[in-house]
Amino acid sequence: MSTKITFSDSKKDCINVHFAFEGEKSPAHPPFYGKKFEIQYLPDKKLLFVGLGKKNEFNVDYYRRVSALAVKTASLQKIACVHFSQKDLTEKEIVLVCEGALLGNYTFDKYKTEKDKKYFLVKEISFLSYAKKFSNSLNDALFLCNNVYFVRDLVSENSDIVTPKFLETISRKLAKKTRMKINVLREQQLTKLGFNLLMSVAKGSDNPPRVIVLEYTGDTSQIHEKVLLAGKGVTFDSGGLNIKNDTMKDMRMDMAGAATVLGIMKSLSELKIKRNVIGIIGCVENMPDGHAYKPGDVIKSYSGKTVENLNCDAEGRLVLADVLSYGVKKYNPNLVLEFSTLTGNVVAALGHFCAGFVTNSPEHAKIISKAGHDTYELVWQLPLFEEYRELVKGERADLRSIAKNRDAGSIFGGAFLAEFVDNVPYVHVDIAGTAILEEPTMYLPKDGSGFGVRLGVEFLKNLK
Ligand code: BES
Ligand code: ZN
Ligand code: ZN
Repeated sequence: MSTKITFSDSKKDCINVHFAFEGEKSPAHPPFYGKKFEIQYLPDKKLLFVGLGKKNEFNVDYYRRVSALAVKTASLQKIACVHFSQKDLTEKEIVLVCEGALLGNYTFDKYKTEKDKKYFLVKEISFLSYAKKFSNSLNDALFLCNNVYFVRDLVSENSDIVTPKFLETISRKLAKKTRMKINVLREQQLTKLGFNLLMSVAKGSDNPPRVIVLEYTGDTSQIHEKVLLAGKGVTFDSGGLNIKNDTMKDMRMDMAGAATVLGIMKSLSELKIKRNVIGIIGCVENMPDGHAYKPGDVIKSYSGKTVENLNCDAEGRLVLADVLSYGVKKYNPNLVLEFSTLTGNVVAALGHFCAGFVTNSPEHAKIISKAGHDTYELVWQLPLFEEYRELVKGERADLRSIAKNRDAGSIFGGAFLAEFVDNVPYVHVDIAGTAILEEPTMYLPKDGSGFGVRLGVEFLKNLK
């Protein structure tokens, strides 16, 4: 079901929402003071006041948060429509309000069997009629947020359902609907082409791997300008023979990078963004069995470089190494952007509020940081000084897959992957802490958050 966006100057059946800064005159009555995220709800009039806090401490993302609060209030009251009756909002502000309302209007409750345990979703988000002139931007926000739901659903779903084959099926559906070109590489072809790192990870599983390539051509006037957009699609990460313990229960979500890529590709085509983007996802399941790859094995990558696998739980970088070098060789992109739930280390460093990124391109570091700020899908740069790049050199093989100790593990991951992009400008975004949440925030749910779709689209839009 998709939420409707409507325009009207009077909506008596809806919750009518007013925002107020602290100390500002408002039609609300004491004890409402406009403090940050303060709420006053008058049920008989269906009136809701939400506080924006002190004007000089305001962060524009609060517009997303307060509108999500409004939608949550409506949901608790089982009122299916929220009307924002603020008169003086700019286009940008209205879009933020709309985004927050949509992002907050979501639940993953398909496995709740009792009807009354199901979450009540709002069906209509309404603005004053003056906002009609912003319809195009609001529609874009609706498409984007629906694609955030699409990613959340995929990431939160059971790993027995979301297998590499399943990702192929939904990618084919997506390609058909958006008329994107699609190419799927299966086991035989992957083996023949020499995706030995990826195939090694896949060996211990009964679910065969897939590499899926989607091509979006949004700018035929610059056909040689291409971005390679790559994602880690480990549909379950048991850790392989280096089996995980208590964190294994979350590892159905280790395909969040791949889901993000699909969500971005879908958005590019729906919003008709003027870019050419090749989306590529490496989909495998990492399991231990008698056929599983082993720690200590030296494996020859697609690129020809040999890698000593020192831990079967560092599988993501192996999968991505082959995917990246294949993508770079075959499509000759000007830029590579990649999303992956690559390291627990990034969660230790940055927690769940921002993703870590590593890049060989200062210019693109600025663009991704700004996109992060504007979408509030925040990112923080980790360095790639030559000392870090030295760490990936191997003893028995060209490269080692993990560092000698646990220090700077996220940078090591990025430095390892940077060996496979052939000096093309490259941005690696480690979303292990942000794509999967243990606790919901004001507009993000627990589990799959959909992080990266809005960030990626904004980044691609803003490229020179
Ligand atoms: N999928 C995990 C990383 C991860 C951790 C994702 C927490 C989401 C939440 C990845 O494959 C992994 O296991 N990485 C290891 C690397 C280590 C063996 C060098 C890690 O981070 O412990
Ligand atoms: Zn792992
Ligand atoms: Zn993993």
